[in-house]
Amino acid sequence: MKVKLEGKVEHFRTVWMENDIVKMIDQPKLPHKFEILTLKNYKETAEAIRNMNVRGAGAIGVTAGFAIAQAALEAPYDTTESLQKYVQEAADFVKATRPTAQNLFYAVEKVLNKVKSHPTIMGAKFSAKRLAQTLADEDANACKKIGEYGEPLLKDGCNLLTHCNAGWLAFTDYGSALSPVYIAKEKGKKIFVYSDETRPRLQGANLTAWELGQNGIEHRIIADNASGWLMQLGKVDIIIVGADRIAANGDTANKIGTYEKAVIAKENNIPFYIAAPTSTFDLKCENGKGIPIEERDEKEVLYIQGYSDTTKGVETVRISPKESHALNYAFDVTPAKYITGIITEKGIVKPDKESIEKLLQ
Ligand code: MRU
Repeated sequence: MKVKLEGKVEHFRTVWMENDIVKMIDQPKLPHKFEILTLKNYKETAEAIRNMNVRGAGAIGVTAGFAIAQAALEAPYDTTESLQKYVQEAADFVKATRPTAQNLFYAVEKVLNKVKSHPTIMGAKFSAKRLAQTLADEDANACKKIGEYGEPLLKDGCNLLTHCNAGWLAFTDYGSALSPVYIAKEKGKKIFVYSDETRPRLQGANLTAWELGQNGIEHRIIADNASGWLMQLGKVDIIIVGADRIAANGDTANKIGTYEKAVIAKENNIPFYIAAPTSTFDLKCENGKGIPIEERDEKEVLYIQGYSDTTKGVETVRISPKESHALNYAFDVTPAKYITGIITEKGIVKPDKESIEKLLQ
């Protein structure tokens, strides 16, 4: 996607690998600063996933693939067995960073298997690196396709609501939920977006709003609890959100708060779509009950971070009594019955077992 930086427009991917070093847009700094993080080895790259320097299932997956490629490249051993052992340990380390986004496990397994299947050390290193790059390219291409399949759902002049960030920052490029918006814009349609702020980490207020602004899409940030009222007023024509993991029956895990949007959408007859590449499906999970839901540090709820117009810097402040504790589930599961369709790079699929199986054949 194109980013305007001090008057110049530059094309960026969210994460990429250059000379065996992983580089990524440092997302917690947005929208106040645009900075690139440089990660020299697989442990640094894995920590960037854990610390949410990179966010969103697709971008996390691509980063995880690069991390395993880095592990293969840096492995100091001289037999294929010792190389495989080192990369297996790296895979376990990367898989332990965040539990919910299926794309992470998808990418780790793919690159790890490539290393294990190669008979020579140099061949294993080279093919791990090449596969990680292919996964990044596939992610970008899939997102563009999602945009092309989703765009006809958006009428010129329509109002779309989204939750969290499922734009290009959450993938390598284009994004999932916002990809139809970007393609519609390229075709000359005018789309208005309501972006839920998305407590506690504010991906909607920080990231979605920033990238919509960068792309000249008219939008308003709304408090998370405002969307039901807007739906009741008839101000929302369609909802599209991303997904972190989709079970075999179509139940979908996404950022906490998604479930309630879907229920209210149904109550108000508003179409509710999930947009995700097929790498987000996990057929091993029969239904949403099998999806592991990440619980994060209570500090994310008890404190808030933002730019101070007074000190001209980013500050973190406590917003709750010192004695209070918080509960911080990062994701929830929307049952398939509330989902109108799932927009993928292979077309729009009904959220049921049979249709999903057919799609993934
Ligand atoms: O916890 P995050 O910031 O990684 O979560 C991001 C989301 O939940 C997105 O909505 C999601 O990944 C779907 S789009 C990739």
